[in-house]
Amino acid sequence: MPPKRTAPKRAPQLPPIPAPPERRRFRQRLLTWYQRHGRDLPWRKTDDPYHILVSEIMLQQTQVDRVLPKYAEWLEKFPSLHALADAPEQEVTTTWYPLGYNIRPRRLQSIAREAVERYDGQLPSDEETLLSFKGIGAYTAGAIRSFAFRERAAILDTNVARVLFRLFVGRGEPKSHAMTKHLWTISEALVPYRHVFDFNQALMDFGAMVCTARQPKCLVCPMAKSCRSYPFTPERS
Ligand code: ADE
Repeated sequence: MPPKRTAPKRAPQLPPIPAPPERRRFRQRLLTWYQRHGRDLPWRKTDDPYHILVSEIMLQQTQVDRVLPKYAEWLEKFPSLHALADAPEQEVTTTWYPLGYNIRPRRLQSIAREAVERYDGQLPSDEETLLSFKGIGAYTAGAIRSFAFRERAAILDTNVARVLFRLFVGRGEPKSHAMTKHLWTISEALVPYRHVFDFNQALMDFGAMVCTARQPKCLVCPMAKSCRSYPFTPERS
């Protein structure tokens, strides 16, 4: 008997990148929401790349309200990349306590030392150089470029990925590497040419305050009408 023919396996289809009119609507809705509801946070009142770096590394695994006092204390103790580079390692780790994930203060100090040795105590603004630092990944590079240098750079962390997946892909959550790549492309298409700082900060707040992981607030969501997973139903496990 001839072998049964099976259809060739195809990669799952990725949904389209939002077209320009949809991008514009999304930006406008998000920025309007942010003007009314955005949080007033200290790292939003600076464009110092070092301050932005400290806040983003602290926020990687820690909630905003726990980061707030530590961010102030840290910058008082280590006000610049030079100061952090020169500080005794023990003092750096003790100051970090009790934030946890203690690789983070060591990474921060190694970034500071490299910036002092190679870049005159400054953080560079180009993506490739930022990514060459151990401890700066694609998200942090995008955050530094958009928040400190106001460049048109996209961001994607777990929260932003969840928001973009729900809005532009559908129910569920991003699971594959290909999907994460696709969400980066969506994030890149969405970043506006102006107001990049506010737009990316707004994405963070929207994920933390409306499009939350559990029980998102679809009833007050300004994107509900065009959302691909509205109304939200929790996945059964
Ligand atoms: N989490 C990570 N980065 C953040 C930011 N800039 N603002 C609020 N939460 C965040």
